[in-house]
Formats: sequence, C-alpha cells, structure tokens
Amino acid sequence: MLILGIESSCDETGAALVRDGRYLLSNIVASQVEVHNRYGGVVPEVASRQQLATIIPVIETALDQAACGWEDIDAIAATYGPGLAGSLLVGLSVGKTLALARNLPFLGVNHLEAHIYANWLRREKSGTGESWEYQEGDPTFPLIALVISGAHSELVLVRDHAHYELLGQTRDDAAGEAFDKVARILGLGYPGGPAIQHAAEHAEEEYQRQSKPPQMARNAYRLPRSWLRGTYDFSFSGLKTAMLHLAEGAVGVGEAEKSGEDPRGRPDQQHSGVKAKQQSHYTRMGVQAAKRGSVNVGLLAASFQEAVVDVLAVKTRLAAQEYHVKQVLLAGGVAANTSLRARLEQELQPLKIRLRYPPIEFCTDNAAMIAGTAFFHLCKGEQHDLDLDVQPGLSLPFVR
Ligand code: KG4
Ligand code: ZN
Repeated sequence: MLILGIESSCDETGAALVRDGRYLLSNIVASQVEVHNRYGGVVPEVASRQQLATIIPVIETALDQAACGWEDIDAIAATYGPGLAGSLLVGLSVGKTLALARNLPFLGVNHLEAHIYANWLRREKSGTGESWEYQEGDPTFPLIALVISGAHSELVLVRDHAHYELLGQTRDDAAGEAFDKVARILGLGYPGGPAIQHAAEHAEEEYQRQSKPPQMARNAYRLPRSWLRGTYDFSFSGLKTAMLHLAEGAVGVGEAEKSGEDPRGRPDQQHSGVKAKQQSHYTRMGVQAAKRGSVNVGLLAASFQEAVVDVLAVKTRLAAQEYHVKQVLLAGGVAANTSLRARLEQELQPLKIRLRYPPIEFCTDNAAMIAGTAFFHLCKGEQHDLDLDVQPGLSLPFVR
C-alpha cells in the first residue's frame, strides 16, 4: 500500500511517499527555521502563511522524487493534531481535498503517535509484504516509548499497536521547550536543541584537547535535577530558572578558575525556585551574557544537556526495568540528541534491553512518519470522513 503523507503541525511543511508503513520512496521537508530564527521561536501566524506558500510545491517534489503518479497512490494521510491550529489546517485541508479529488481513502494522523511510528521507517526503497503484523526489523512489543518533542515529554508503555499507557509526563516545560528556552538564554538561537548539542560538543572537545575528561565539561556547573521520585513525571522549569540565574551574572567557569573561586557557584544560586521570567527576557539576558563573555556558554550548554539527559535516561531505564520491556524507543525532535542516545544505550545495555531511535531526519517533524502511521490504521479498516477537523490539543489515545 502506497501512502502519501502530509505534515504541517508547526513550522515544517512535509510530504512523503511510504510503502507499507515502512519503506521510504521520498521524504520532502521545507523548514521555516530561517524565518523564525530572527524572532527566537515560532510565530504561529507566520508559520501558517509559510505552510500555505510551500505545501503544493513540497507535495509535487515528493511525487517527483518517488517517481510516481497519482494512479500509484492508495491513500492520503495528514496530521490533524496536536500542533498550531493555523498550520494544521493547511496540511489537513490539502490532504482532504486531494483525497476527494482523487477518490482515495483519507486518514487523519496523530502527530505524537507518528513520532513513535518513525521507528518503523527504513531507507530501503522496496518492501516485501503488505502486512501490518511483525516483520523482521520492526520494533518488538511490549516497549517503552520516550516521546520528547518541542511541546511534549511523555513516557509511554506500548503493549501492542495503538495500545498506549501513560506512565509519566512533564509537569511544566517539555524537554524540547527547555532546550529552546535555554538556547535563548545562552544566545544560541533557534531551534535550541541542535544549538545546545553543538555548543556542548565544542566545549567537550576543548576539554579533551586540554587532556581533561569530557565528563568534567558536562559537570562544570552543578545544576538541579528534578527527580520527582516515585513517579515517571518530569519537570524542567527549575533547571531552566537555574540557567537563567547563571546567565544573569553568576561567576563563569573560566573566570572562576583564574581567580581560584569555586566555579560551580553557590548552592543557593543553583536551586532557585524563582518564577520563570518572560521569554523576551531570556533573549535579552542571553545576548547580554554572551556579549559580556562573563559566562562560559559551551560549558553551560554541556552542563544543561547533561542535567536533562540524566533525568530522561534514568527514568526511562527504571520504567523499562519495571515493565520488563524488550525495547525502548526514542521519539520526537529531542530523540535526535546524540548525548541522550549514548547515555540511554549505556543505561540499558546491562539489562539487555535494546534501544531504538529513528535516523535524525525522521526524529524531527517529517511526513514519512505520518504516512507510516497511517498504514497501520488503514490496514485495520480505519478511515476518516472528510469533515475531520484539526485538534490542536490532541494527545495520544491512552487506554490508561
Ligand atoms: O518533534 P519536533 O521536531 O517538533 C515538535 O513536534 O515539537 O521537536 C522539536 C524539538 C525542538 O524543541 C528542538 O529544539 C528539539 O526538538 N531538538 C533537539 C535536537 N534536535 C531537535 N533537542 C535536543 N537535541 C537535538 N539534537
Ligand atoms: Zn513533532
């Protein structure tokens, strides 16, 4: 079954052709990063206008690259939530219109579920069977999915296809949101995740050049971790506030080392519960801090990333142990983080639990995962009517 997938939930416009939920024929993503970078984050109104401008060329390119025509396509799928209403509306309307015009089955796809199903995608161009049932190379149930994107952080037990049990979720900021806000604090730009990862890698390489272990760079600043013991919930807002205070003028490691002071600052500076400031404030502070050169941005990025990775990896490993799963899947934009992948692999290895994550281009928003997910639903006879509306606040369909 060949499915055309369309993704437009936020600031990426995507179209892809995927066969049998797994095999990629084409995957086109038009990113708006450059447009939003100057504002330090996504501006919804601008995002939907961009979606409108790019969606048709993106679909045409996806068809061209897959070298297929409309007669080859068996169904059309588009994201219907969660996401920005204006952006979702563009992809969903185009998808439904194409389905109507071509008389093809239509399915609306849950973007979060699609991030999980990105783990079924493969780069090979041809597949063997049309079955939604297990095929060699597929993830195996039961599994734990750590869904970490710009707006979501959820630890989910997946017992079978479409059987989701929520184990824990963020109580405040999502992991990706924390990366984005902290990148603004540090003056690193948008999107924050790759920028922080890059700055952290740079700082670690610098330490290695000086024959210091990279681990030292990751712990240059002792930052708070919100363990919320006894739950699988997460919280990243305290960490974000601690970063804000450090950027506001705490002693930089470089300066402290020179003066012989404790580079980690005082404990009362690190565990502040002060209310988070406005986003514009983050940007201003970040730019000022970077200009002053008073804060070692690379070491702060490395320490922040380590604090996030620490909590995500340990909690995921604990859940994998408790529920005796065979695999752990990473899903969502933050799954692209190499430090998280390495650390989780290390946590799971002694337990002989396999970690899976999609290739980087399938971690961040893309339409291949939308087409892939649709296959498993269409195979079960599911389909949506063309009056399906966008659902910006949609969550995973939890059974519990
Ligand atoms: O899944 P996604 O592309 O969009 C949403 O559905 O939200 O996730 C975007 C998020 C952003 O917050 C971005 O900063 C983060 O994923 N991200 C990363 C990395 N690449 C993207 N976070 C950490 N490390 C990365 N390498
Ligand atoms: Zn996403």
